[in-house]
Amino acid sequence: MYAASASMTDRYFVDADGELLFVPQAGALLLCTEFGRLAVSPGEIAVVGRGVRFRVELLDVAATGYVCENYGAAYRLPELGPIGANGLAHARDFLYPTAWYEDRVGPVELVQKFGGHLWATELDHSPLDVVAWHGTHGAYKYDLSRFNAMTTAGWDHPDPSIFTVLTSPTSVAGQANVDFCVFPDRWVVGEHTFRPPHFHRNVMTEFMGLIRGRHDSKAEGFVPGGASLHNQWGAHGPDRETFDLASAAELSPMKLENTMSFMFETRLALAVTERALSASHRQPDYDSSWAGLERRFTSPSK
Ligand SMILES: [Fe+2]
Repeated sequence: MYAASASMTDRYFVDADGELLFVPQAGALLLCTEFGRLAVSPGEIAVVGRGVRFRVELLDVAATGYVCENYGAAYRLPELGPIGANGLAHARDFLYPTAWYEDRVGPVELVQKFGGHLWATELDHSPLDVVAWHGTHGAYKYDLSRFNAMTTAGWDHPDPSIFTVLTSPTSVAGQANVDFCVFPDRWVVGEHTFRPPHFHRNVMTEFMGLIRGRHDSKAEGFVPGGASLHNQWGAHGPDRETFDLASAAELSPMKLENTMSFMFETRLALAVTERALSASHRQPDYDSSWAGLERRFTSPSK
């Protein structure tokens, strides 16, 4: 998760270990890359390819959001299978920058992440001096409101893979290095079930964030800019209040509005840093949201 209050002026960055997926939550970013500039606002995402040099300017006073460093295969659109040509994210909505270059002399600092370490060097000119380019490895952005959500028309709760915007696949089908999924405003229907994502364990690890609005399976306690982590095989589901509301609601078409949550879903277990564990804003009693769920077994009649 990132938080910034100043633009990068004389410093540039390049990540040789992985590509970077930015999910702004507050404050717009101007990503100045070797391939041109991208203005990215909350509600949009951007990907800066592995090895691409860039710096970030703030377009607002401050900026907070999420960033995923993907060490695996480059992000691409998921296979759509029976969905066909016109669902989820469309290739036409991914925007690449037009060529742009920076003609300035140094000294400037270039910080490179390589092999898990940060290295710095001084240059006598801006590294953003590429005057033209072609190809597919670069930087691009996508407006999440363009996502054409597929949802439940029948019964039960579908796998969150139906909300995949971009995927970094592995050789094992269904176990991505990381999927980026978004849960936007949408109509929901479902019979023989209650509405929110049901109680489950997952072969994949789920890191959830909230860009705006409310989270559809937490009645309270999940604010925009927050995050939750359910590592693989960890049981989870809606809290007590959400369970009660959904259990009593009439099962007719309903529109979920004012919500934009997302998930980084990975087949890898995620380690939590000391810094995150000791953060004062961490919620140590997170699991208490399930504490009020009652035992619902009844004794068999004799
Ligand atoms: Fe889940």
